[in-house]
Amino acid sequence: MVPLVHSPRAPDMADTADTTDTPDKPFYEHHVFFCLNQRKPGERTCCADKGAQAAQEHAKKRIKQLGLAGEGKVRINKAGCLERCEEGPVVVIYPQGTWYTYVDNQDIDEIIDSHIVGGKIVDRLKI
Ligand code: FES
Repeated sequence: MVPLVHSPRAPDMADTADTTDTPDKPFYEHHVFFCLNQRKPGERTCCADKGAQAAQEHAKKRIKQLGLAGEGKVRINKAGCLERCEEGPVVVIYPQGTWYTYVDNQDIDEIIDSHIVGGKIVDRLKI
């Protein structure tokens, strides 16, 4: 049978190890996706028209400044449309799957300080 997905290495016993005794640890403790989708004038609203790029850049810089960037810690990523355009700009944090909207860098800082550093959801920005 032909595999549907190319694998860079052949399967070995490590790939079939019993996974029932320990849950998988996520690669990042917090994986953060900012929608940066840009639409043409006159089309449906989009996050790029509401300051998404500046917010993503601010978050990335602040996470680095806090020493939180990297494997096992935090990753700030760009995303295309996440289909919650009218509620945007939007950001989603995994593995919790918590969605937020924001207005300015103070909101981004609050999400970082409370959710990412403190482990507490920011109810006022949650969507
Ligand atoms: S444009 Fe951001 S969710 Fe659709």
